[in-house]
Amino acid sequence: MFITLEGLDGSGGTTQVERLRAAWAARAPGREVVCTREPSPGPVGRLLRQALADVTIGEGVLPYLFAADRRDHLDRVVLPGLARGAVVISDRYALSSLAYQSLAVGMDKVAALNAEFPAPDLTIVLDLPAADCLARIEARGGTRERFETLARLEEIAEAYEAAIAVSAAKGWRVARVSGDGTPDDVAARVAEAVWPR
Ligand code: TYD
Repeated sequence: MFITLEGLDGSGGTTQVERLRAAWAARAPGREVVCTREPSPGPVGRLLRQALADVTIGEGVLPYLFAADRRDHLDRVVLPGLARGAVVISDRYALSSLAYQSLAVGMDKVAALNAEFPAPDLTIVLDLPAADCLARIEARGGTRERFETLARLEEIAEAYEAAIAVSAAKGWRVARVSGDGTPDDVAARVAEAVWPR
């Protein structure tokens, strides 16, 4: 089973991937669970993180880098994990590209670049207002990446709506879960979305 978590920066995806791992371990002891993320920790992901921090790299370049990283991540981590019978949980996947990169180059181009990638069995979108996401980003400190201002987050939230519609039309199973409340609150909602499937 391949599950992906999605949402705005600050919506809690990284925390919920770990919660879901723990929930699987409790529910199905012995079942291998692979937690992973995009941008991936692999070589293309490393290149991509450098590109995100480099203001001289245009937004038009990023969709290709994200797609290249996705191919590499699928080949190295996701598909081998699924072939072994593991549950693979990824913090972000193609829906992130449909949302974030469509703002720069349009939905059709991003959809074309991502057309070959397999649909997850379940995509969970953590819904949280942009202002709340920004407050969480500020509370955790550290450097802001290029997507982390209120106006930008609001734009991305709109782009996520379009991306969800495009994915659902292609037959992707997308579950929306409120990201409001404590990590435990959200983890309980995520579990409710996952177990029935
Ligand atoms: P993020 O999960 O925020 O990484 P970190 O936890 O290390 O900050 O991902 C980095 C950024 O990349 C994030 O703002 C979302 C963006 N992103 C895209 O624009 N397109 C994509 O396809 C993916 C996977 C991520």
